Amino acid sequence: MAIALCPGSFDPPTYGHIDVIERAAKHFTSVVVVVVVNPSKVPWFDEAERVTLLKEVLGHLPNVEIESHSGLLVEFAKQKGADVIVKGLRAISDIEYELQMAQMNSSLYEDVDTMFITTNPRWGFVSSSLVKEVASYGGNVSALVPPTVDQALSRRSKG
Ligand code: PNS
Repeated sequence: MAIALCPGSFDPPTYGHIDVIERAAKHFTSVVVVVVVNPSKVPWFDEAERVTLLKEVLGHLPNVEIESHSGLLVEFAKQKGADVIVKGLRAISDIEYELQMAQMNSSLYEDVDTMFITTNPRWGFVSSSLVKEVASYGGNVSALVPPTVDQALSRRSKG
Protein backbone atom coordinates (compact mmCIF):
# COMPACT_ATOMS: atom_id res chain seq x y z
CA MET A 1 0.00 0.00 0.00
CA ALA A 2 1.69 3.17 -1.19
CA ILE A 3 0.90 6.44 0.51
CA ALA A 4 1.81 9.60 -1.37
CA LEU A 5 2.09 13.12 -0.05
CA CYS A 6 1.23 16.08 -2.28
CA PRO A 7 2.72 19.03 -0.39
CA GLY A 8 2.45 22.68 -1.26
CA SER A 9 1.50 26.16 -0.20
CA PHE A 10 -1.81 26.01 -2.13
CA ASP A 11 -2.29 29.76 -1.69
CA PRO A 12 -4.69 29.25 -3.42
CA PRO A 13 -5.21 25.85 -5.12
CA THR A 14 -5.37 26.07 -8.94
CA TYR A 15 -6.50 23.75 -11.71
CA GLY A 16 -2.79 22.89 -12.13
CA HIS A 17 -2.63 21.52 -8.57
CA ILE A 18 -5.91 19.66 -9.03
CA ASP A 19 -4.66 18.03 -12.24
CA VAL A 20 -1.53 16.70 -10.50
CA ILE A 21 -3.46 15.50 -7.42
CA GLU A 22 -6.14 13.77 -9.54
CA ARG A 23 -3.44 11.92 -11.44
CA ALA A 24 -1.53 11.00 -8.25
CA ALA A 25 -4.81 9.62 -6.85
CA LYS A 26 -4.97 7.16 -9.77
CA HIS A 27 -1.51 5.77 -9.04
CA PHE A 28 -1.42 5.60 -5.24
CA THR A 29 -3.66 3.83 -2.75
CA SER A 30 -3.89 6.90 -0.64
CA VAL A 31 -2.89 10.53 -1.19
CA VAL A 32 -2.42 13.07 1.58
CA VAL A 33 -2.52 16.64 0.32
CA VAL A 34 -0.65 18.72 2.86
CA VAL A 35 -0.84 22.48 3.19
CA VAL A 36 2.63 23.39 4.39
CA VAL A 37 2.75 26.51 6.51
CA ASN A 38 5.76 28.66 5.68
CA PRO A 39 6.33 31.21 8.48
CA SER A 40 8.46 33.40 6.19
CA LYS A 41 5.60 33.98 3.71
CA VAL A 42 2.49 36.08 4.29
CA PRO A 43 -0.28 34.11 2.62
CA TRP A 44 -3.49 35.48 1.10
CA PHE A 45 -5.42 32.62 2.69
CA ASP A 46 -4.73 31.28 6.17
CA GLU A 47 -4.05 27.62 6.83
CA ALA A 48 -7.68 26.78 7.67
CA GLU A 49 -9.02 28.56 4.55
CA ARG A 50 -6.60 26.70 2.29
CA VAL A 51 -7.59 23.36 3.85
CA THR A 52 -11.28 24.22 3.37
CA LEU A 53 -10.76 25.25 -0.26
CA LEU A 54 -8.85 22.03 -0.98
CA LYS A 55 -11.58 19.93 0.66
CA GLU A 56 -14.14 21.64 -1.55
CA VAL A 57 -12.26 21.18 -4.81
CA LEU A 58 -11.00 17.62 -4.14
CA GLY A 59 -14.17 16.19 -2.60
CA HIS A 60 -14.69 13.95 -5.66
CA LEU A 61 -11.53 11.92 -4.87
CA PRO A 62 -12.29 9.27 -2.22
CA ASN A 63 -8.67 8.27 -1.59
CA VAL A 64 -7.47 11.85 -1.00
CA GLU A 65 -7.33 13.50 2.41
CA ILE A 66 -6.30 17.05 3.25
CA GLU A 67 -4.14 18.06 6.20
CA SER A 68 -1.83 20.87 7.19
CA HIS A 69 1.62 20.89 8.72
CA SER A 70 4.19 23.35 10.02
CA GLY A 71 7.75 22.13 10.09
CA LEU A 72 9.84 19.80 8.03
CA LEU A 73 7.97 17.87 5.37
CA VAL A 74 9.94 14.69 6.08
CA GLU A 75 8.68 14.71 9.69
CA PHE A 76 5.13 14.75 8.35
CA ALA A 77 6.04 11.95 5.92
CA LYS A 78 7.32 9.82 8.84
CA GLN A 79 4.20 10.58 10.87
CA LYS A 80 1.92 9.50 7.99
CA GLY A 81 4.03 6.51 6.95
CA ALA A 82 4.29 8.02 3.46
CA ASP A 83 6.57 6.37 0.90
CA VAL A 84 6.47 9.01 -1.79
CA ILE A 85 6.33 12.78 -2.19
CA VAL A 86 4.62 13.79 -5.43
CA LYS A 87 5.31 17.17 -7.04
CA GLY A 88 4.16 18.65 -10.32
CA LEU A 89 6.59 19.87 -12.96
CA ARG A 90 5.39 22.70 -15.20
CA ALA A 91 8.58 23.67 -16.98
CA ILE A 92 12.34 23.14 -17.08
CA SER A 93 12.66 26.09 -14.72
CA ASP A 94 10.88 24.09 -11.99
CA ILE A 95 13.44 21.30 -12.14
CA GLU A 96 16.37 23.01 -10.44
CA TYR A 97 14.42 23.91 -7.30
CA GLU A 98 12.43 20.66 -7.22
CA LEU A 99 15.52 18.50 -7.66
CA GLN A 100 17.28 20.32 -4.84
CA MET A 101 14.29 19.85 -2.52
CA ALA A 102 13.95 16.19 -3.49
CA GLN A 103 17.62 15.56 -2.75
CA MET A 104 17.47 17.45 0.55
CA ASN A 105 14.39 15.50 1.64
CA SER A 106 16.06 12.26 0.66
CA SER A 107 19.17 13.18 2.65
CA LEU A 108 16.99 13.89 5.70
CA TYR A 109 14.90 10.73 5.33
CA GLU A 110 16.09 8.12 2.89
CA ASP A 111 12.90 6.03 3.02
CA VAL A 112 10.91 8.66 1.16
CA ASP A 113 11.24 9.12 -2.60
CA THR A 114 10.12 12.12 -4.62
CA MET A 115 8.28 11.45 -7.87
CA PHE A 116 7.22 14.03 -10.42
CA ILE A 117 4.09 14.28 -12.49
CA THR A 118 4.35 16.55 -15.51
CA THR A 119 1.63 19.15 -15.45
CA ASN A 120 -0.85 19.09 -18.30
CA PRO A 121 0.48 21.79 -20.70
CA ARG A 122 -2.91 23.48 -20.44
CA TRP A 123 -1.87 24.55 -16.92
CA GLY A 124 1.85 24.98 -17.61
CA PHE A 125 1.78 28.76 -17.09
CA VAL A 126 -0.43 28.69 -14.01
CA SER A 127 0.99 29.47 -10.58
CA SER A 128 -0.74 30.58 -7.38
CA SER A 129 1.46 33.72 -7.36
CA LEU A 130 0.44 34.80 -10.86
CA VAL A 131 -3.21 33.99 -10.18
CA LYS A 132 -3.07 36.27 -7.10
CA GLU A 133 -1.32 39.01 -9.07
CA VAL A 134 -3.94 38.96 -11.83
CA ALA A 135 -6.80 38.77 -9.29
CA SER A 136 -5.35 41.70 -7.34
CA TYR A 137 -5.77 43.88 -10.47
CA GLY A 138 -9.33 42.66 -10.94
CA GLY A 139 -8.34 40.35 -13.83
CA ASN A 140 -10.38 37.29 -14.73
CA VAL A 141 -8.85 34.05 -13.41
CA SER A 142 -12.00 31.95 -13.64
CA ALA A 143 -10.40 29.67 -16.25
CA LEU A 144 -7.48 28.89 -13.96
CA VAL A 145 -9.12 28.09 -10.62
CA PRO A 146 -12.35 26.36 -9.58
CA PRO A 147 -15.40 28.62 -8.94
CA THR A 148 -15.10 28.33 -5.14
CA VAL A 149 -11.48 29.54 -5.30
CA ASP A 150 -12.41 32.28 -7.79
CA GLN A 151 -15.05 33.54 -5.34
CA ALA A 152 -12.56 33.44 -2.45
CA LEU A 153 -10.06 35.42 -4.56
CA SER A 154 -12.68 38.04 -5.43
CA ARG A 155 -13.60 38.45 -1.76
CA ARG A 156 -9.93 38.70 -0.80
CA SER A 157 -8.89 41.12 -3.56
CA LYS A 158 -11.85 43.43 -2.82
CA GLY A 159 -10.52 43.48 0.74
O1 PNS B 1 3.89 25.12 -3.27
P1 PNS B 1 5.34 25.31 -2.92
O2 PNS B 1 5.51 26.63 -2.20
O3 PNS B 1 6.26 25.15 -4.09
O4 PNS B 1 5.71 24.14 -1.87
C1 PNS B 1 6.99 24.08 -1.30
C2 PNS B 1 6.95 23.15 -0.08
C3 PNS B 1 5.87 23.62 0.88
C4 PNS B 1 6.64 21.75 -0.53
C5 PNS B 1 8.35 23.20 0.61
O5 PNS B 1 8.66 24.54 0.89
C6 PNS B 1 8.41 22.39 1.90
O6 PNS B 1 8.43 21.18 1.86
N1 PNS B 1 8.41 23.09 3.05
C7 PNS B 1 8.43 22.46 4.36
C8 PNS B 1 9.75 22.72 5.11
C9 PNS B 1 10.80 21.73 4.66
O7 PNS B 1 10.67 20.55 4.81
N2 PNS B 1 11.85 22.29 4.05
C10 PNS B 1 12.93 21.51 3.48
C11 PNS B 1 12.50 21.03 2.10
S1 PNS B 1 13.85 20.63 1.16
